[in-house]
Amino acid sequence: MDGMLPPILLVGCGNMGGAMLDGWLKEGLAPSFILDRHRPSVPAPHHLVRSMDEIPDTFHPGMIVLATKPQKVDAVMSAIAPFALRAPVLSVLAGRTVGALTDGLDKALPAGSPVPVVIRVMPNTPSSIGQGMSVCYAPTATAAQRSLCTRLMRAVGDVAWIEHEDQMDVVTAISGSGPAYVFLLAELLEQVGTMEGLPPALARQIARQTVAGAGALMLRSGVDAATLRRNVTSPGGTTQQALEVLMAPDAWPATLATAIRAAARRARELSGPSPVS
Ligand SMILES: NC(=O)c1ccc[n+]([C@@H]2O[C@H](COP(=O)([O-])OP(=O)(O)OC[C@H]3O[C@@H](n4cnc5c(N)ncnc54)[C@H](OP(=O)(O)O)[C@@H]3O)[C@@H](O)[C@H]2O)c1
Repeated sequence: MDGMLPPILLVGCGNMGGAMLDGWLKEGLAPSFILDRHRPSVPAPHHLVRSMDEIPDTFHPGMIVLATKPQKVDAVMSAIAPFALRAPVLSVLAGRTVGALTDGLDKALPAGSPVPVVIRVMPNTPSSIGQGMSVCYAPTATAAQRSLCTRLMRAVGDVAWIEHEDQMDVVTAISGSGPAYVFLLAELLEQVGTMEGLPPALARQIARQTVAGAGALMLRSGVDAATLRRNVTSPGGTTQQALEVLMAPDAWPATLATAIRAAARRARELSGPSPVS
């Protein structure tokens, strides 16, 4: 099993948990338990369970991954807590602080138990194809636990660490929610193309490939986004006409800043105290 990712207990396997699991399965994951109400199956040798009661006490995960909606995690906190004495807890829950999660787990454990280690990670859905962006924060984790987290998240994309938890709200607004903004761009390009007379299939093809190709070029070339933009913008040409509209101070610069601030504000609101803490 050398070179395999460690066994995990994945709690919640919807959009985000499923995206990470898909990436981990491709990288080789030691036999793991996946708790989810909806996922139809997981490939052998992994185990899909519908309730925490089905997980044997003898299971020793290398990491417990929390990927339910934030408001659903409290219902399983006391069932997760005993496993949190065996392995760090990696939470991808938007807005749930390390402190709130640690308190929730701690309160579900017998008095005098060691305090569980919680690692907070904000991933995004391109993780399912190994192109995710994960930002991690772990004030109490050991170097070995941080490196295990890096290993898991690197298996599904790029990884960065922050040392100040308040930065997680902006991270959530940019990279956690960000794929939706890019998909919206593709949707709008397709819609406008159709409105301007292109056959719908052609509008879709050119919108999708343009968004995907531009992203891939940015990543592979390593050139900064502003330079790549300028490379497409001949003075007096068509792109310049469009960019003058988009880059007007009250257009994209203002709209995007307002949108990111709204998402970050929502992330802060979600960090309210957990009902179990
Ligand atoms: N989606 C993203 O792009 C993204 C990005 C970054 C972070 N996140 C974070 O990832 C977390 C999950 O988001 P998501 O979009 O993946 O949510 P989701 O699609 O609703 O997935 C959560 C899954 O967990 C299941 N579940 C919850 N409690 C359960 C329980 N006690 N037993 C069995 N199954 C249970 C849910 O079933 P039910 O619906 O029946 O409860 C659902 O299938 C959130 O905290 C979010 O903040 C998401």
